[in-house]
Amino acid sequence: MATNSTIETLLNRRSIRKFKDEAIDADTVATLETVAQHAASSQFLNDWSAIRITDPAVKAKMAEFGHQAYIATAPLLYVFVIDEHRNARIAERKGIDPDSDAFHLKYSYRFTQAQNDAVLALHAMETAAYSLGLGCVILGSILNDIPGVIDTLKLPKYTYPVLGLAIGKPDQEPALKPRMPREMQFFENAYPADGADTDTLTALDDFDAEVHQYYDLRQADRPVDAFSDQIATVSGQDVSGKTLLDKAAAQGFELDK
Ligand SMILES: Cc1cc2nc3c(=O)[nH]c(=O)nc-3n(C[C@H](O)[C@H](O)[C@H](O)COP(=O)(O)O)c2cc1C
Repeated sequence: MATNSTIETLLNRRSIRKFKDEAIDADTVATLETVAQHAASSQFLNDWSAIRITDPAVKAKMAEFGHQAYIATAPLLYVFVIDEHRNARIAERKGIDPDSDAFHLKYSYRFTQAQNDAVLALHAMETAAYSLGLGCVILGSILNDIPGVIDTLKLPKYTYPVLGLAIGKPDQEPALKPRMPREMQFFENAYPADGADTDTLTALDDFDAEVHQYYDLRQADRPVDAFSDQIATVSGQDVSGKTLLDKAAAQGFELDK
């Protein structure tokens, strides 16, 4: 494989969930935030924002929502949000009523576009952090309580939380987690038919065995479940409390359109 420092950074990335109790300096913060802003933005809508959480009480709230104590100990913590609020205000200044049907930034296509933008920005920040010797963990867990996040961060109409990102100096060295064989995830020209030679599950047994040898530092006394078992477990988890339509509607989005 070709290599350089960017590729090394990306290939060595692993989630870090224990941080040294050391603040991140202002220059680094500025660098990470500027890098995030340089991510691509669909139609240049720039329809995301991020809340930098410095107040320990607010960090603690996020940890409570996520049921993950380490969130509260993150030296640097962000929540990335879909943000059509800013664009609604800008459009309003140009004579478009955001509450009317003429304002289309509240519909589902723009919502997913903004979510993509937010994730790309977060990922750029994450990669930059690793390249500077920091570690990160992405936090979907805060979405256990979407109304709670919205309320705590005072998220206005036409905004919606996407993900958190905890950053700090690593205080652990987790092993790299295995990834599935490339041919299970990259296909040529079309999705392979189930049962064909190129069936995506052909290499599954080997991958299951490899994953089952991995130790997650959160549960260091036993190896993690095989990939198939993890998928079976998660496929049975009730996520009905996280439904999008109603919570997004409460923020002004009309995702049925
Ligand atoms: C969208 C997203 C949400 C995630 N949410 C959490 C989370 O809430 N808590 C956590 O500890 N890890 C979270 N992770 C990290 C994943 O568990 C991790 O990336 C995955 O197990 C692979 O391990 P690695 O990052 O060490 O390679 C999240 C990752 C992604 C992409």
